[in-house]
Amino acid sequence: MQFILQILSTALNFCTVTSAYVGSQKTTSNSHKSLGSPFGVGFDLTASYGSAAVSFSNGTIVTVAQIPGDQDYNDMLRRLSLAASRHLSPPYNNVGEAWEDMPRQYLRKARKAVGLPASQDVGHLAKMLSGLRTVVEERVGPIITAGVTTMHLAALYDEDLHDAFEYVGLKYITFPIGAVGHNILYETSAAYAGYGYGLCSDYKGDPEVCKNEQWNMTDQVVMAVVYTDTALSVSLSNLASAYALWEPPYRYLVDFDLGYQASSLSTAEYWATVELKLGEILVEYPNYERPSMVMLMGDRTEESKFRATLKKVLSDQMQESPEVLSECGRGIAAKGAAEMAKREIFLAKQNPSSCFKATKKEKELPMRKWTISASRSRC
Ligand SMILES: *[C@@H]1O[C@H](CO)[C@@H](O)[C@H](O)[C@H]1NC(C)=O
Ligand SMILES: *[C@@H]1O[C@H](CO)[C@@H](O)[C@H](O)[C@H]1NC(C)=O
Repeated sequence: MQFILQILSTALNFCTVTSAYVGSQKTTSNSHKSLGSPFGVGFDLTASYGSAAVSFSNGTIVTVAQIPGDQDYNDMLRRLSLAASRHLSPPYNNVGEAWEDMPRQYLRKARKAVGLPASQDVGHLAKMLSGLRTVVEERVGPIITAGVTTMHLAALYDEDLHDAFEYVGLKYITFPIGAVGHNILYETSAAYAGYGYGLCSDYKGDPEVCKNEQWNMTDQVVMAVVYTDTALSVSLSNLASAYALWEPPYRYLVDFDLGYQASSLSTAEYWATVELKLGEILVEYPNYERPSMVMLMGDRTEESKFRATLKKVLSDQMQESPEVLSECGRGIAAKGAAEMAKREIFLAKQNPSSCFKATKKEKELPMRKWTISASRSRC
């Protein structure tokens, strides 16, 4: 029983993680540059590779690494994309679930106790994180924390990301998104921020003003597309601020058979299938508001055949073509995560007890972009 309560209380205490940066500043003797200078590091664990970006306090955001996933990493993401791979995971809805998940939790604890990653998957995630971290540290010096974003996979849980961070010795940044404990920063949110949307214009100013600005942002329907060697994903998401994403499973499709290099179909069949997939949600739900923006992510979005296919889908399904954001697609989610990480670190340092929540806006106001730094247009 004590163990269950412990799990439940861990789940409910995610909020306190933020203040841990400040705590560790006092207790660790070797000085950590990520505390001394306010930059943020963001990792994107996406299909077929991981990438890392750094957001500096002067507004410059750079992608510093892209590391291809190995077979284990790729197989894992494919498997975690399947609904059949789902299992119980904290936070639990009730004590019964906690009870039922206990054997799995004990196994994780036992593995950790002997110095292993909590699960094999955690090991694969940790390997990627560790590679990215090494490249980042070559660039900016030792880091102690980072923000991570990843695909919206059915069976990838916050717990796994936490444990992977713990295994590589990094502090996990919990962003104030969604319900308590359901805190994965999905790529749609991170890319939105990376493209310059959904964050307040002056995060160094009054935190209340920043919070209000984000709460007051207008909802926008965004089609987010990830296209890499191993997968294609398409969503019809709703975003107000970057912290307020609505992306239910039926509005998010991911297919690990439709990556640029993943298909066994003939070329013609392949592109016909990609076309169907890109348009599937729009076709299936003709009454849903059409996207006002398309965000491209992934290192294959520049392929001309892909662009032509997307263009065809948009012109078939929509009267007016929405804005297509595609520049810097390959590192954009990592950049957004880095910017959001920088802001969390800044807030945590200002106010160790801060744990603000993103909630729905109450009033419609025009969408605002935060300052566009020079680097974002250059990639
Ligand atoms: C911002 O700071 C970074 C790191 O110190 C530096 O590399 C970059 O050139 C700076 N950007 C601007 C616009 O000054
Ligand atoms: C929205 O902005 C107005 C000021 O423009 C502010 O008074 C109000 O509190 C904000 N709404 C929320 C929910 O923060």
